[in-house]
Amino acid sequence: MKRETIAIHGGFDSDPTTKAVAVPIYQTAAYSFDSAEHGAALFNLEVPGFRYTRISNPTTEVLEERVAELEGGVAALSVSSGQTALFYAAINALEMGRNLVSVPQLYGTTYTLFAHVMPKMGMQVRFAKSDGAADLEALIDENTRALFCETVGNPAGNVCDLEELARLAHKHSMPLIVDNTVATPMLVRPIDYGADVVVHSLTKFMGGHGTTLGGIIIDCGRFPWASHAGRYPMFTQPDESYHGLVYTEQYGASAFIGRCRSVYQRTVGAVLSPMNAFLLLQGIETVALRVERHVENALKVAQFLRADARVESVNFAGFADSPYFPLVQKYLGGKACSLMTFEVRGGLPAAMRFYDALRLFKRLVNLGDAKSLACHPASTTHRQMSSKEQLAAGVGPGSIRLSVGIEHIDDILADLDQALGARV
Ligand SMILES: Cc1ncc(COP(=O)(O)O)c(C=O)c1O
Repeated sequence: MKRETIAIHGGFDSDPTTKAVAVPIYQTAAYSFDSAEHGAALFNLEVPGFRYTRISNPTTEVLEERVAELEGGVAALSVSSGQTALFYAAINALEMGRNLVSVPQLYGTTYTLFAHVMPKMGMQVRFAKSDGAADLEALIDENTRALFCETVGNPAGNVCDLEELARLAHKHSMPLIVDNTVATPMLVRPIDYGADVVVHSLTKFMGGHGTTLGGIIIDCGRFPWASHAGRYPMFTQPDESYHGLVYTEQYGASAFIGRCRSVYQRTVGAVLSPMNAFLLLQGIETVALRVERHVENALKVAQFLRADARVESVNFAGFADSPYFPLVQKYLGGKACSLMTFEVRGGLPAAMRFYDALRLFKRLVNLGDAKSLACHPASTTHRQMSSKEQLAAGVGPGSIRLSVGIEHIDDILADLDQALGARV
């Protein structure tokens, strides 16, 4: 089926017991066993079924199947936030003493996780000078176990060359992990271009209404963990924490998700609640329509800002003179997402006056809501970085990031116009 249809029907037909057409919210912590033998068989993973909602739940399972199908993967694990998805995905591929090589254009908290939190756990993250494959390759050594990028960087708006990065990862026998939050599978499926693991903050465009935190990890099912057994023993050697389970044998193509669920979700437990899975599923039903309108409005906003003398510069990959324009054509079907940054003429004080004067745009740190949103990354999302690190991530001192919503374009432009008028 096409993605527009999967977004509505993926993973669910109707409830087998009641024939309910909406996905039921299975608000339960646990599930009864038919017998002691049944309970043991469930825990031995010999029979399918549910044991405890920290491990799996029928409502979250629909979300997992739907998003896996949307992204062209074989399995998915939903978690409580995008940050958890990133953390689980990274530590599932690494071990103490190993490292991950990343592009520099990252969401601020991802940068903090990589630069400050994971190293304290013995896993290093190395940031390349740019998102170019040669710059990433320069940092790969015998302990590197994964490459990482955001399809479209938040807020830099850079578009990564997924095929190039996947080729590089596979040349060095490692997976490419891609955060596809900003692009969504409506614009690109990184797995189609060689990505091995895809992560999302479902909080953004997928949920789409700014009501619900959630994250998900999707496994492409192709990475040959067993062929690289010496590099990834955690997938191919018996796991003492799960009575000697070997993940590649138990889960086959979905070993990455199988291990992530059995090791990290089971023991750490950053679970997505069934209610939140339901809300995210509601949002996903309309993601195709929303993304179309987001993208259409964003192009008009970018053109409006660029033509306005009160604006110093606009960073938007959808402009034909952007270095990322060819990649927008290749990977995003010519649609440069709906995130952009720009600089108001007059520097930081003018940017702050503009920001404070916005009426329709909400001042906050979210993106991907149906509403138009504005953020000042240097003082919020990217505040923990030094000025140099901010610049590498595409954040100037006065940069304003817009996430253009799906309101009528006339109202969006009118708000920007009046706020620019207030900049002096
Ligand atoms: C690209 C990207 N990835 C991950 C996250 C983290 O997601 P969450 O807020 O759901 O933890 C964000 C949040 O803004 C993001 O923009």
